[in-house]
Amino acid sequence: MDSIRIRGGRPLNGTIAIGGAKNAALPLMAVSLLTEDPIEFTNMPTLADLATMGSLLGELGVELTRTVDDTSNEPVVRLQARKITATEAPYDLVRKMRASVVVMGPLLARAGKARVSMPGGCAIGTRPVDLHLKALEALGAEIELKEGYIQATAPNGLSGGHILFPKVSVGATENALMAATLAHGDTVIANAAREPEITDLANCLTEMGAKITGIGTDTLRITGVDQLSGTRHRVLPDRIETGTYAAAAAITGGELTLTNTRAELIESVIDLLERAGVEVTETKDGLKVNRANCELRGVDSMTEPYPGFPTDMQAQIMAMMTVATGAAMITETIFENRFMHVPELCRMGADINVHGASAIVRGVKKLSGAPVMATDLRASVSLVLAGLAAEGETQVNRVYHLDRGYERLEEKLAACGADIARVAGV
Ligand code: EPZ
Repeated sequence: MDSIRIRGGRPLNGTIAIGGAKNAALPLMAVSLLTEDPIEFTNMPTLADLATMGSLLGELGVELTRTVDDTSNEPVVRLQARKITATEAPYDLVRKMRASVVVMGPLLARAGKARVSMPGGCAIGTRPVDLHLKALEALGAEIELKEGYIQATAPNGLSGGHILFPKVSVGATENALMAATLAHGDTVIANAAREPEITDLANCLTEMGAKITGIGTDTLRITGVDQLSGTRHRVLPDRIETGTYAAAAAITGGELTLTNTRAELIESVIDLLERAGVEVTETKDGLKVNRANCELRGVDSMTEPYPGFPTDMQAQIMAMMTVATGAAMITETIFENRFMHVPELCRMGADINVHGASAIVRGVKKLSGAPVMATDLRASVSLVLAGLAAEGETQVNRVYHLDRGYERLEEKLAACGADIARVAGV
């Protein structure tokens, strides 16, 4: 297994181009199941999770080809499901990437059935899918749980219904939204997730002929259509990658210009960074983050559904707070076990105490490099950030977690002055 070696203490300076959003690309790839026409994507990142989704879709009958746009010369990923040749998402793929569960809605809508392995939990929580199932039942699906699989059928097609989510769920909103586009009649999705990735998905479905109103709000109204057609869609910039590199500038006391992204996607993160003493300037194609001449201050944060502070930035902000002046209370309200980075950060000299869903971080002068273990995607990158600021050498092991969500991370950081390299595993 590869690891990443970092020698810390060097302020980052330079420009980083942000890639397309992993959490937009995953459901967007699944829309290919909803039509026999080709769907083309630009700004599609190259990530392990997307390769896993590509393999799964391939088993269901989706042809995936990569081309280059002859005018803009940018890569284009083309997906086409002329026919659905299978309707099963097997355990060995779903357990690798639980987001595979978003094929359920499209399979039901297009083929009238789906057999999807229960995804099981992961490092950050039990990750149930009950909200997905209730939503699809509200659209007329019959659901049975058998031998670790979800067996869903809609022999006469799906029919519009009223879905009220008792709690906000990104994936369940995506499954319901995609299924509703081909259901007979009208659907209301109340208490829908409002993450920008949902808006990007809804915009793509609209380009394909879906009838959706309330996009960007917590109430989506969909009128089902008989069929959807192809489109070309540009994947939304990755707001979590954007926030991660902003935190890298902050923790190292450097200055980074982030391009091919939009400041408005991370308003809550920018608000926190500014409260912590970081200078953030919006630019025409992104933002500039500067902490070269100011001190980092400890500030409190609490994760919430969008537009609140994103849970996917919690570990990165915690790393930043370990070397801030003063204390910071960080409360995680979305997942029940998303503090796996705490013991590893403490091994680097951080002063963090966890009390239930909250962690109290007391800033220390300096972290010291150490061999640390990655446990999940965002915990891994928080250890890289800590390594960039620490004195001495840090070795982050099990970096396959990182490769799920960050494209060429060490290259991008090295180009901005970090002493970082990937060490091939034995
Ligand atoms: C998406 O996961 C993201 N993943 C996650 O990003 C992100 O942390 C999460 O949304 C919250 O923003 C993708 O988009 C691929 P949820 P998802 O359904 O859809 C509970 C990353 O690091 N819940 O919004 O699985 C659930 O346990 C990843 O990029 C139920 O109880 O998240 C959690 O406590 C990690 N029943 C809360 O809701 C359900 O049926 C929010 O989960 C579904 C969810």
